Amino acid sequence: MASTFKAITFFFAVLALLTGGNARGKDQAASVFDVTEYGAAPSNRDNRDAFLAAWRAACGSTAGNSTLLFPKGTFAAGAVQFEGPCRNGDAPVVVIDGVLQPCAGGSGGGCRLSDDAWITFSGLNNLLVTGAGTLDGQGHHQSGKAKSKTTTLVFDGVTNSTLRGLRLVNSRGFHVNLRRCTRVVAEGLGIHAPAASRNTDGVHVGLSSHVRILNSVIGTGDDCVSVGPGSTDVVVRGVACGPGHGLSVGSLGKDGGEQDVVRGLVIENCTVTGTTNGVRIKTWAGSPPGAASNIKFQDITMDNVSNPIIIDQRYCPHDHCSDADKPSLVQISDVTFRRIEGTSSTPLAVQLLCSEDRPCTGVRLDGINLTCGDVPCRSEFSNVRGPLAPAPAVAQAQAPSPAPAASRREEAADAASEQLGRSTWWSPFTVRG
Ligand SMILES: *[C@@H]1O[C@H](CO)[C@@H](O)[C@H](O)[C@H]1NC(C)=O
Ligand SMILES: *[C@@H]1O[C@H](CO)[C@@H](O)[C@H](O)[C@H]1NC(C)=O
Ligand SMILES: *[C@@H]1O[C@H](CO)[C@@H](O)[C@H](O)[C@H]1NC(C)=O
Ligand SMILES: *[C@@H]1O[C@H](CO)[C@@H](O)[C@H](O)[C@H]1NC(C)=O
Ligand SMILES: *[C@@H]1O[C@H](CO)[C@@H](O)[C@H](O)[C@H]1NC(C)=O
Repeated sequence: MASTFKAITFFFAVLALLTGGNARGKDQAASVFDVTEYGAAPSNRDNRDAFLAAWRAACGSTAGNSTLLFPKGTFAAGAVQFEGPCRNGDAPVVVIDGVLQPCAGGSGGGCRLSDDAWITFSGLNNLLVTGAGTLDGQGHHQSGKAKSKTTTLVFDGVTNSTLRGLRLVNSRGFHVNLRRCTRVVAEGLGIHAPAASRNTDGVHVGLSSHVRILNSVIGTGDDCVSVGPGSTDVVVRGVACGPGHGLSVGSLGKDGGEQDVVRGLVIENCTVTGTTNGVRIKTWAGSPPGAASNIKFQDITMDNVSNPIIIDQRYCPHDHCSDADKPSLVQISDVTFRRIEGTSSTPLAVQLLCSEDRPCTGVRLDGINLTCGDVPCRSEFSNVRGPLAPAPAVAQAQAPSPAPAASRREEAADAASEQLGRSTWWSPFTVRG
């Protein structure tokens, strides 16, 4: 009997040891901070506080390699800002496998949404936001005049980071805004909003450098990608765009100032389908000084695009510009359009309409092969200095393509555009994968 008792105690001792071991095993697993363990639940009530509690735990963890997890399920939340810096210098990995959305009903339902942004990551280094989940802005349920323009996802002051694989749908404003960022890669995104939804840009970049937007499918009611003021060294590659307003630089010159500059941009290997514009540079009419330089659009396929190639320095959407009749003072220089093929839905395939006060310089059209239905394509140029077109620029565009006299005069002088091929400002980098 006594020996049986001993055996049982021994059994319990072993059990205790085993569970103790398990608990230590869990310590490692505890570097996953699941929002449902901080009070979040798939429901229509505001989960913001639970999200923030889980964030504080993940960001404050000393374990290293912590993960903030939004598991499967549909979670409502109001405006939420995940702020750094984090305890060990690097941000957690953020895995979003569920669907996040504002509370149902009216403007955000029971969730408070800021006008600026819905989900913000700020002041972080080495962040990875990924997962099979969806950020659903529910913008298509807004109606009336008081529609908000809340951006769905903002990276603000984020460095060496990656945004990968998420779906973003029906934003109220921009879907993704990368601002004050350095070395950020956004890739494998699926972004979708109705063609009629205003200001729903797919990915916007501003005040940022060394940004890569790669291999994504983007169709919205506004620009698929827009590269705004203060952007340097931006590469957009492998984006399937449409519907929407195309791949755009700008609009520039709204506010003016030192920051109103875009320098070093490559947009390549993209397809643009059924959009109003293909590749575009836009600056506001009457805008103060600014600059856009070293810009390459290449290997782009157009499918039924209204304005496949366009520089518009009299940009004035909805005709509400006080200086609509004044020229823009944004200087556009060293822009190459190369190997752009496909179909235009209008006869006007190429429009380069530059400022009479700041003519575009170093503009090059090379290997443009567009067709315009049954009619010959036309092109229109004003205030453009070349070397516009080495020989048959708008080749298959069937246009006689008279390079304007001005451009011919500049041809020899402009060696600067040759430098484009060498991409001296392009800087390779790696970020958290
Ligand atoms: C984090 O994970 C990476 C790769 O999984 C590993 O190399 C690194 O040592 C880990 N860091 C810490 C602090 O655990
Ligand atoms: C980001 O990465 C670059 C290059 O790897 C490094 O020099 C820089 O210090 C990093 N930034 C931060 C804030 O760690
Ligand atoms: C071009 O983009 C497509 C996806 O749109 C991708 O499959 C292909 O590998 C890319 N090619 C190059 C040369 O980058
Ligand atoms: C081309 O685009 C126009 C609108 O710009 C549209 O009406 C037309 O149906 C499209 N054609 C095709 C073949 O998709
Ligand atoms: C232009 O494109 C068409 C079809 O897209 C192709 O058949 C033709 O060979 C191209 N022409 C040149 C000069 O590349």
